[in-house]
Amino acid sequence: MLRLLAPAKVNLVLRVLGKRPDGYHELETLFERIDLADELTFSPQPSGLTLTCDNSSLSCGEDNLILKAARLLQNTFHMHQGASIHLMKRIPIAAGLGGGSSDAATALMGLSQIWNLRVPAERLVALAAQLGSDVPFFLLPQPFAIGTGRGERLEPLPEPHPTLWHVVVTPKVTLSTPEVYAGFDAQKSAERSRMGLTAAGGSITITTHALRNGPDMSGLAKGLGNDLEPEAIRRCPVIHDIRILLRKGGCIATSTSGSGPSVFGLCHDAAAAHAAASSIRTHGKPEWFVAVTKTNHAII
Ligand code: C5P
Repeated sequence: MLRLLAPAKVNLVLRVLGKRPDGYHELETLFERIDLADELTFSPQPSGLTLTCDNSSLSCGEDNLILKAARLLQNTFHMHQGASIHLMKRIPIAAGLGGGSSDAATALMGLSQIWNLRVPAERLVALAAQLGSDVPFFLLPQPFAIGTGRGERLEPLPEPHPTLWHVVVTPKVTLSTPEVYAGFDAQKSAERSRMGLTAAGGSITITTHALRNGPDMSGLAKGLGNDLEPEAIRRCPVIHDIRILLRKGGCIATSTSGSGPSVFGLCHDAAAAHAAASSIRTHGKPEWFVAVTKTNHAII
């Protein structure tokens, strides 16, 4: 049996540059892998694929990206051996934290290992991109990367990789990524920035520079931003309230991850992150998911 962690991500920066003829959006994003993680266990079996999960609200059918990853590997490499996979879900679902994408990437790695497939790294990345725009990021050994194209073309940031501390807050609502992108397209640009607390989109240049310099926390605070945030707030106004509470709790900057509804606050250190999390637990809604997280330097 093989046990692997499937970590979450946040988008420190997410800029939508335009809509493409294939319906996707051209992005410029800065991913950070964090240490909030699902856990997957893989056991080989003679044939067939079985997926179980400790969270009954998640489908374990063919629509689950883990099974899609498994079928893609089986079809690509004519693999007749099967596997039973168990998922322990810790990352909030459909929350902008990349949980499903990370599970898919981890399934590609875990199954290649137990089936002894010896897939070259570039081949695995190409398969990952077929499963979803965010999936290739979770195959990288580096914790920070700039994503362009759909988000699948990656440029990892070179060392040194600082450790950032955050509080991640997810309200109990789900947002559909295609719907948030469609809403983004429908809004006029003036309306887009009206509801944001910071300049929409943020800046990859300012943020990567700040990561290289210490990190320079005030540079990071200036650089964070997400073009999808105004649309996410329009559909889920509580995101705005969470951002304000995180600032009151001592976070130096906040932003929405992916298409939301998860919000993260950036903190100076572990103590500040724990203090902000405890403030959110006191002043926020009891059903919100609240976690102190930090940069995840190595996939375990
Ligand atoms: O690639 P993935 O399946 O994760 O994307 C989910 C949906 O998000 C797409 O169907 C599309 O509506 C939207 N999307 C987009 N542009 C991107 C990434 C995702 O429009 N770069």
